[in-house]
Amino acid sequence: MSAPGGGRVDPDVRSRGHWSGRLGFVLAASGSAIGLGNIWKFPYMTGENGGSAFVLVYLACIAVVGLPVMMAEILLGRRAQRNPARAMATLAHEARASKHWRLVGIAGIVAGAIILSYYSVVAGWMLDYLVRASTGSFGNIGAQDATRAFDGLLADGLRLSLWHTLFMLMTMVVVARGVHRGLEAANRALMPALVAILVLLLGYGVVEGDMARAVSFMFDADFSKLTPGVILAAMGQAFFTLSIGMGAMMAYGSYLRRDVSIAQTACYVAAADTAFAILAGLAVFAIVFGHGMASAAGPGLVMHTLPIAFGNMPGGTVIGFLFFVLIVFAAWTSAISIAEPGVSWCAEQTRLTRAQASVVIGGIIWLVGIAVALSFNAWKDFRLFGLGLFDAFDYLASNVMLPLGGLMIVAFAGWVLSSAHAREELRCGDRLFALWRSTVRYVSPVVIVLIFLSLTGVMST
Ligand code: TRP
Repeated sequence: MSAPGGGRVDPDVRSRGHWSGRLGFVLAASGSAIGLGNIWKFPYMTGENGGSAFVLVYLACIAVVGLPVMMAEILLGRRAQRNPARAMATLAHEARASKHWRLVGIAGIVAGAIILSYYSVVAGWMLDYLVRASTGSFGNIGAQDATRAFDGLLADGLRLSLWHTLFMLMTMVVVARGVHRGLEAANRALMPALVAILVLLLGYGVVEGDMARAVSFMFDADFSKLTPGVILAAMGQAFFTLSIGMGAMMAYGSYLRRDVSIAQTACYVAAADTAFAILAGLAVFAIVFGHGMASAAGPGLVMHTLPIAFGNMPGGTVIGFLFFVLIVFAAWTSAISIAEPGVSWCAEQTRLTRAQASVVIGGIIWLVGIAVALSFNAWKDFRLFGLGLFDAFDYLASNVMLPLGGLMIVAFAGWVLSSAHAREELRCGDRLFALWRSTVRYVSPVVIVLIFLSLTGVMST
């Protein structure tokens, strides 16, 4: 086997597509990072975990763990030019390390299946609200009715399943078409439009909501609510929102051309993603406090609050409709990246074509997603680790599987991959390289392990 370096490329690598350039990659990677994690999950996690303590730990995790892991992941993907499982095996072979590193890729594919199964159900909520917004059903809605409307949706298993089915179809169609025609085209003009509506929502929050209280809730340092559980949740959120720890960025990196600086692009993506989450959080909490609603409402938080904003602002029917269209697009470009490692693995490791692999992998995830949709109603009493299926999946994937995957990725990039190879891929100055290398060797792994340990300490007392 030829080493995946220099100008030599083996045949199955040559047949894979590439992003058209740096912009194409930044758009695709931001499209992956920015999604329900920013607009839906970040606000509700912040509310549930006491506000500022969570936000500040989350920001710290992005800087010391998230960004270095993201660079490592893209780097490994680009160097190997293969799907995550094969990438780990190939690079391990190149470094004369154990071939079992492959398991990191496989575990990531499993984590992706778990995540997409419930991600698609939540995206289905957004599809439902897109229709409701467009028919003007949020007109002058109050806090109580908004809450009731969402409870009604959750109680309707068939409706949830149908929306989930539609969203899975949308996702798998794009994945089946492949990188260039499918993924990249879907990412182009949507992000700027989403920013514009987010700014509009912020404006509404300033005028009609309680923005001052939202700002102090999110940023006034108050560590009294800090517990090991909150810290773990913040780290999990950092992994989830950056799309790292399961090979999605590795898969995307594998379609990246060799001349692009990974250090720089990763910084852009992380910055855009973080800004998005903060803006969404501020908009949501301004509405929450302005209407005397509960900040700890859980996964339904944005479904309770946003209809109020759209129902009461001038032109709200149109703006609300556009907003949910854009959330669906943001979720779509993320979902595509969650499915990509599994599909590229299945297509490259079996005789199936990419389209057939999409049907197989998509079908499995769809089926699991149906169980998630029913866990809100018909199968409500089913418990996994004391949680409902939806919460259990989210906890397992975000707080356990992604950080563990990230730990293995930094361990590999810091200790197994040779320094020369890493430097060749990152393409940044000496100082920055030294900083990155020591971070992935010592800081990130130690932080991840400490956060896990702090939690077990709590569980045993
Ligand atoms: N980051 C996306 C969001 O915030 C979700 C996502 C896409 C993801 N790809 C991922 C999460 C890979 C974990 C792993 O909505």
